Amino acid sequence: MTVGGPAGSSGGFDAQPGARVVITIDGPAASGKSSAAKLLAQRLGIAYVSSGLLYRGATLVALRQGIDVADEGAILALLAEQDVRLHPEAGGNRVTVDWRDVTDELHTDAVDASVSVVAKHPRVRAWVNDRLREMGGSFVIDGRDMGTSVFPGALAKFYLTADPAVRAKRRAGERSTGVEAIATELSRRDERDKRQSVPAADAVVIDTGPLTLVEVVEQVLTAVLRVLPARTVNT
Ligand code: CDP
Ligand code: CDP
Repeated sequence: MTVGGPAGSSGGFDAQPGARVVITIDGPAASGKSSAAKLLAQRLGIAYVSSGLLYRGATLVALRQGIDVADEGAILALLAEQDVRLHPEAGGNRVTVDWRDVTDELHTDAVDASVSVVAKHPRVRAWVNDRLREMGGSFVIDGRDMGTSVFPGALAKFYLTADPAVRAKRRAGERSTGVEAIATELSRRDERDKRQSVPAADAVVIDTGPLTLVEVVEQVLTAVLRVLPARTVNT
């Protein structure tokens, strides 16, 4: 398992000295950012990094210890004690806590319900952002504030949106929870995430509602190829 740096980052653009490429894809829950980011990364032959999984990892360790997720100091103390790591592997990102893989526990209703409370804490945000900025190589990264706060100098920035009802339906297709409960949870999370979810001024905004995933990726790839120096792209 590759640790501390995105897998796949040794090929593609890194073969050219000084050619590091960072592409950001931000947007609200179920706007399609992680699916699009993963496919785009494959097409470009670079790594995919999920910033949300670090927030989910921090939330999981807090919930496991029975800590009040509103208690920033207690969460920070826990993150200093337990080794929460993101492993950006080619097939999808994994998270370990003290080297035990917890990825399958990160997309539960319990984590969904608490993650945006944890993500409001400035020092938790700083902890996540430090982990992301440590990563070398080229990658496509998704989240909420990748294009604004964390990688403002990214080569290309995208912000995906979709109507809340469309997003609830999409997420319900991935969970056993009913669409109404999902819609309520998503709107609560949208509200809590509002502050860090503003599109970058130079982001290309795409409404994914009427589009298939393939159409979204085509739009994103076309925009990326306009600004990328000519190099091989995986087809
Ligand atoms: O895929 P989905 O948008 O549902 O979740 P995610 O990307 O895994 O993000 C989970 C939560 O982490 C979000 O609801 C935010 O509260 C937080 N987050 C954030 O604040 N900033 C980021 N860059 C990424 C995620
Ligand atoms: O990462 P984020 O939470 O923004 O969304 P996702 O997990 O990538 O996408 C949520 C679901 O919507 C997935 O099952 C996608 O296949 C589906 N979808 C999409 O991403 N884009 C479309 N244009 C249509 C559907």
